[in-house]
Amino acid sequence: MGEIGEVIITGEEIRDKIREIGSQISKDYAGKDLVLVCVLKGGCVFVADLMRAIDMPLYVDFLSISSYTEKSETGAVRIMKDLDIDITNRDVLVVEDIIDTGFTLGYLLRILKARNPASLKVVVLLDRPALRIVDLPVAYKGFEIPEQFVVGYGLDYQQKYRNLPYICLLKRAR
Ligand code: IMP
Ligand code: MG
Repeated sequence: MGEIGEVIITGEEIRDKIREIGSQISKDYAGKDLVLVCVLKGGCVFVADLMRAIDMPLYVDFLSISSYTEKSETGAVRIMKDLDIDITNRDVLVVEDIIDTGFTLGYLLRILKARNPASLKVVVLLDRPALRIVDLPVAYKGFEIPEQFVVGYGLDYQQKYRNLPYICLLKRAR
């Protein structure tokens, strides 16, 4: 693990923040038909903890998309694995690990909106506003982070380090 750098958000800080966000979501969505849409693979650790911090019945589903770095010639992100359920007239909350430029989530939101959900919002663990190109409405946000590349808690570098229970910098990246 020689590539692993400074820990910038500890597991405890993440746990406390998720508890806060979870209780806010429980209040905001009380009585609604909440569907958490986890964006794989980065969102898997976050959604696992977040769903247990939400105190109401909910559905969880998963989708997988090609990121903007591997986008098709049309510039669109592709859905590699679609949702299993129909989200029409349901209250959809997209769960993402990080927003950087906003391209990935921007495309995804457009695709999901076309399916006519009752509402469509975003919860994101990490936000890197310095690199934002596409403006997105983010309803719930964990932490703002600086420009450096990070790994851990679902986020990877070449598919590694998703299992780290904290967010840390990566030496030599970017
Ligand atoms: P965007 O389209 O630029 O917003 O990119 C967002 C996607 O890029 C995220 O869903 C992540 O999968 C990936 N990503 C962006 N920054 C990082 C990082 O610092 N570490 C790991 N993955 C990242
Ligand atoms: Mg992602």
